[in-house]
Amino acid sequence: MTETQHKNQCETLKRTLYCVKINEEYVNRTVSVYGWVNKKRELGGLTFIDLRDRDGLLQIVVNEGFPDLQLIKRIGSENVLAVTGKIVLRSNPNPEIYTGKVELIAEHICILSSSETPPFLPESNTDVSEELRFKYRYLDLRNQRMQKNFKIRSHSALNVRNYLHNLGFLDIETPMLSKATPEGARDYLVPSRIYNGRMFALPQSPQLFKQMLMVSGFERYYQIVKCFRDEDLRADRQPEFTQIDIEMSFAEPEELFEITEGLIKEIFSTIGRDIKTGFRIMDYDEAMNKYGSDKPDLRIPFEIRDFSSSVKAFNSNILNSILENKGTIRGLVLPKSSDYSRKVLDNINKYVQDLGGKGAIWIKYGEEGFKSSLKIEPIVIETFYKENNIDKNDIVFLIGDVVEKALFLAGKLREHLGVSFMDKDRLEFLWVVDFPLFFYNPDEKRLDSNHHPFTCPRFEDLDKLDSSPLEVKSSAYDIVLNGIEIGGGSRRINDIKMQQKIFKLLNFTPEEAEEKFGFFLNALKYGAPPHLGIALGLDRIIMLLTGESSIREVIAFPKTTSSLCLLTGSPSAVPARQLHELGIRLENEGKKAHE
Ligand code: AMO
Repeated sequence: MTETQHKNQCETLKRTLYCVKINEEYVNRTVSVYGWVNKKRELGGLTFIDLRDRDGLLQIVVNEGFPDLQLIKRIGSENVLAVTGKIVLRSNPNPEIYTGKVELIAEHICILSSSETPPFLPESNTDVSEELRFKYRYLDLRNQRMQKNFKIRSHSALNVRNYLHNLGFLDIETPMLSKATPEGARDYLVPSRIYNGRMFALPQSPQLFKQMLMVSGFERYYQIVKCFRDEDLRADRQPEFTQIDIEMSFAEPEELFEITEGLIKEIFSTIGRDIKTGFRIMDYDEAMNKYGSDKPDLRIPFEIRDFSSSVKAFNSNILNSILENKGTIRGLVLPKSSDYSRKVLDNINKYVQDLGGKGAIWIKYGEEGFKSSLKIEPIVIETFYKENNIDKNDIVFLIGDVVEKALFLAGKLREHLGVSFMDKDRLEFLWVVDFPLFFYNPDEKRLDSNHHPFTCPRFEDLDKLDSSPLEVKSSAYDIVLNGIEIGGGSRRINDIKMQQKIFKLLNFTPEEAEEKFGFFLNALKYGAPPHLGIALGLDRIIMLLTGESSIREVIAFPKTTSSLCLLTGSPSAVPARQLHELGIRLENEGKKAHE
């Protein structure tokens, strides 16, 4: 074939189907497939190419008689090919892949695009550093697992839209360039060129806009929306992330819970998992007391127990002095763990100390009878086990401190040790309700909102707002899955006087409140209906759906944990002219510009 003929044939070649669709039914049929070279190997006179498209792999065989063996030599990893040929049965089937029983005998191959030797092969992306993966994210995303994650994400988002649309929710976009809304993190600011010295803020959430849409009478709103928060990053936090944001008027939390649970059910149906709705509801105080966390992982089969009164019988100076100083003794009883070695016990003690605690006292039954890291008579321990219904095979850990700290430490230890006791495949959903409206911010010496300032206090607590605001509970709720907060929301204040009062309690002067939120207070003057809402973290839900341990695996172009985009090299310095236009002069101009 001449080069012109080859070129013409390449130009007219059309894909007949995706690699992954091909099975025994296609034997003896001539097909054309497109894809990337996943692997190429030579064996005897034959060349085998695993061709990969977005859905799967197909083995291509190039026989010795192929008309252009020079072209085959040029083919390397990650080249893009179009291949035409006949499907035949494989002599050595590969049961791992759908197409494993067949192969394509190449009759014509076009190199549609060549590739330099890639820095890593997509199929072995887990062997390379995250830095390299993110720098070459487009290669990383070619990995089959990543392709699958984004299919699940796309399909889930579609299910969300259909579900909410069918319930009468309208998808309404809200601005990205706007005024800061407090959600507790720092804002990303965007300087204005036209009004030098003034800034837009990227939304931490569309909170006030969705509330104003309720004032506008839309009644049911949703949006799958990007939010931006400049905060310290973790496996489940990114500076820009996506919320399924919902708001509705004239409804009670129960109705929103039902809608949200239906939505979660719909999302999990994407991966064929049937979720039983009617999630458990627990108030904040119970969650903190039993689990030392407002987002407990209910897969862990033990809770925090209060042993303050039963340990008095130990006559231990250490424990007694904690109790006398308004402290508490909380404990964990780990089933069938009396065989923990000394080294494991020392590590557990150190774990608690590293968190700022005094340590964890252990009590157990072994070959030498009852023993403890504290000096306690075996007979006293035996009575303690009996009175508290603890089995001899169980080990007990005690943590003493002031209540809040003891619960925090015991909660952390529960999560730390609980991993080896739980069924990781289980899905434990939970609503946590009745959060305190405020917490005391010791740095600023004032009250802060637990959720955000637009959250309605629980009606039955309204009379405590002035006298004991820290005791007031809010009409706020979080939804938790396996110890991860996947969403949060609340009933909103729709009365201007109440909103002004909350601002006052948060130490805003009327002028400050007006300056920051005057536009919103105004909206509350013109018939704001009772309303409530929720926002679900889409990235976190998809992370749990795909079994990933970081949301970075389900965001196409994520930032590193130090907030960098390694692919584009941002944030980056900008030319002095651009800064000048924005009326910005850098403090250490010379240094920054050359960094
Ligand atoms: P909240 O701040 O609780 O509520 O956010 C809602 C949900 O968004 C997810 N989320 C994040 N996901 C990834 N990276 C982050 N940095 C991040 N921050 C939050 C979590 C969280 O539960 N306006 C209110 C909602 C409302 O009241 O309607 C809000 O944004 O899954």
